[in-house]
Amino acid sequence: MARDFDIIVYGATGFTGRLVAEYLAGAGATRWAMAGRSADKLAAVRDAIGAPADTPLVIADADDPASLRAMAERATVVLTTVGPYQLYGSDLVAACAATGTAYADLCGEPGWMRSMIDAHEAEAKRTGARIVFSCGFDSIPFDLGVLTLQEAAIARHGAPAPRVKGRVRQMKGGFSGGTAASLKATLAAAARDPSLLRLLASSFALTPGFTGPHQPTGLIPEYDAHLNAWLAPFVMAPINTKNVHRTNFLLDHRYGADFVYDEMVVVPGLGDLGKAAAEALAKINPLKGDKGPKPGEGPSRAERESGHYDLLFAGLMPDGTRIDTVVTGDRDPGYGSTSKMIAETARLLAETDGEGGIWTPGALLGARLRDRLRERAGLTFEVG
Ligand SMILES: NC(=O)c1ccc[n+]([C@@H]2O[C@H](COP(=O)([O-])OP(=O)(O)OC[C@H]3O[C@@H](n4cnc5c(N)ncnc54)[C@H](OP(=O)(O)O)[C@@H]3O)[C@@H](O)[C@H]2O)c1
Repeated sequence: MARDFDIIVYGATGFTGRLVAEYLAGAGATRWAMAGRSADKLAAVRDAIGAPADTPLVIADADDPASLRAMAERATVVLTTVGPYQLYGSDLVAACAATGTAYADLCGEPGWMRSMIDAHEAEAKRTGARIVFSCGFDSIPFDLGVLTLQEAAIARHGAPAPRVKGRVRQMKGGFSGGTAASLKATLAAAARDPSLLRLLASSFALTPGFTGPHQPTGLIPEYDAHLNAWLAPFVMAPINTKNVHRTNFLLDHRYGADFVYDEMVVVPGLGDLGKAAAEALAKINPLKGDKGPKPGEGPSRAERESGHYDLLFAGLMPDGTRIDTVVTGDRDPGYGSTSKMIAETARLLAETDGEGGIWTPGALLGARLRDRLRERAGLTFEVG
């Protein structure tokens, strides 16, 4: 039976949800609704972003499972930016899995993602619910960057690259209160349950029953001779690498069961200067203490519009040849670009069918999503 809406944006009053709603309204989307826990706040956001006055508003509270189920039953896709997901997201995943509703989020919380896979994957497969985590900067550009590189490797060499290096060459943007809260919630959960630390440290936390070869930690600054550059740790690597390995797992190891992958940031400067810069960067934690942004806060419009990113994926083949793929995005990664990526993911989910389960964007939507993001969301993917 047709549902009331193609897409419900849940969390439209938050920093990122508001940007998603603004994007959909600007793109002329129809059959969509804004959802949250406060009708007044939703109406104020609808008016402030210039969405049509008759844009439907749906009330659902993360603490009220019946309201979440009622919301899920009305939508083809629920796009949620209500986070931290480990605090507010579990009942919504359960509701979508039970009602066969597609789901897209911005989660970068691997402990919670694994618990959702364990709890709901079987039911999602049974009902046909396509649950897709991590549809923002973490981890779409990385997930699709590696997928693109491996497609090229298979086309040129008949085999995937067994070793891929993900390297952040440029990244300009800031953090929001919700992202800061999510990182803090993960640290607090790990302090309560030390077994979570083992899971967080494993690149194979999201591939139940499969552990591949040893992976580089990416935690120590190093000189990369292939790139002739110094490298520092990348704050999003712990979530992205797990998602990339899950894509490989869900695609029956298209990248090989021996696939090795890491992500680090390229630091400007060579020699001692580059080394010192990499070591200094490794010590910075932008979200340490209580000084970070509060929920609802994030980078300004000017900061979002002047932001951008440039990612290199270097695939090393056994015969010594190298294949590069470069992914770029306009706008700041975490919000300007992320809001477009998750909105286009949800639109594609609403327009297409597919098998139920708990998916990564790359494994479920792959090249179709890449095309959409190129056409509409300011991303480029170039194979060198
Ligand atoms: N992966 C990525 O690239 C990426 C990028 C950006 C953000 N994120 C993630 O996205 C999430 C949101 O970040 P943000 O900065 O946008 O957060 P935020 O501004 O704090 O917004 C949180 C939203 O959750 C809602 N909410 C809180 N408790 C609720 C409840 N009990 N019932 C219903 N709604 C509730 C808030 O509603 P009220 O307005 O009513 O309080 C608000 O709409 C975070 O988990 C963050 O880590 C990820």
